Order: sequence, then structure tokens, then C-alpha cells
Amino acid sequence: MTDTVEIAVTINGRVHRLTVPPRRVLADVLREDLQLLGCKIGCDQAVCGACTVLVDGMPVTACTTFAFELDGRAVTTIEGLAAGGILDPIQRAFLEHSAFQCGFCTPGMILSVKALLARHPEPDERLIRQWLNANICRCTGYQMIVEAVRTAARMVSG
Ligand code: FES
Ligand code: FES
Repeated sequence: MTDTVEIAVTINGRVHRLTVPPRRVLADVLREDLQLLGCKIGCDQAVCGACTVLVDGMPVTACTTFAFELDGRAVTTIEGLAAGGILDPIQRAFLEHSAFQCGFCTPGMILSVKALLARHPEPDERLIRQWLNANICRCTGYQMIVEAVRTAARMVSG
């Protein structure tokens, strides 16, 4: 039984060579080892979606994803979304619509939307709500979030 596992994982475009215990989860690697605090911990059991990040472009809950599973894969966190200091259109749309209050759910929410728009550039409301089903917001209600996603879709598809 090995105590640690060596992995090479690309996080926000940069390769990290890490030595991790087999049961260390991605959320702890991101928050504690790499100080990427945009990955929030709410429930810690794959229910609230606050810890959502993208792995090879798909949303996953970092609180229940073992770090060793990420060897050779690419992770995107909210810190990796803005390019050259310019916010991603989804981030801009969330600001425009005030689609958050405390902001705790927002990083995970935005990353789920990123994955949605990559697959469905013009989603209808049903599809938007379906993709955000795993992201819980206790503050805003979802109407402004849905509006923000619609605006982001228009920005992205031009
Ligand atoms: S903290 Fe991971 S889903 Fe809630
Ligand atoms: S903005 Fe507070 S939980 Fe969503």
C-alpha cells in the first residue's frame, strides 16, 4: 500500500507535479496546497455544487474527486477563467444582472455555465435550469441567474 501518489495535472493552463495521499480530494489540493480559494466548500458531500470545477471541460464536485484521479487531466477553476485580466463573458453577465448576493455559489455556478455554453451555445430556460440543477444558491433565487446565462450566451455566440 503506497502512502502517496505522484501526479501531473494541468490547472488553469499550468502543469503541477504533485505528491498526494490516495484519499486527498481535489478541493483540498486546490484550496490548501495551491491557495485557489474560489473553489468553495459547502456541504463537502457532492450536494451543493459550491466546489464545482471543470475537469477536461466537464463540471465535477472537487469535494468528492480524488486528486490521484486527475493525473494527466486538465482542471479549470474560477481563477483560470479571466484571460489577461479580462473577465469571461459569463462573469460579465453575472455582474450585469447582479446574479449573486453573498457570492458563495457563484464560482461553481459560473463554471457549470461555462460547460453548458461550450456544448449548447443557445440554451433555452429548461436546459439552463437542468445544467444548474446541481448548483444550489441560497440567496438570489434563480431568475437573475437564468437571465445572466441568456446574456452570456448572446455574448459568446456573438
Ligand atoms: S462542497 Fe462539494 S458539492 Fe458541496
Ligand atoms: S449568491 Fe449566495 S448562495 Fe448564491
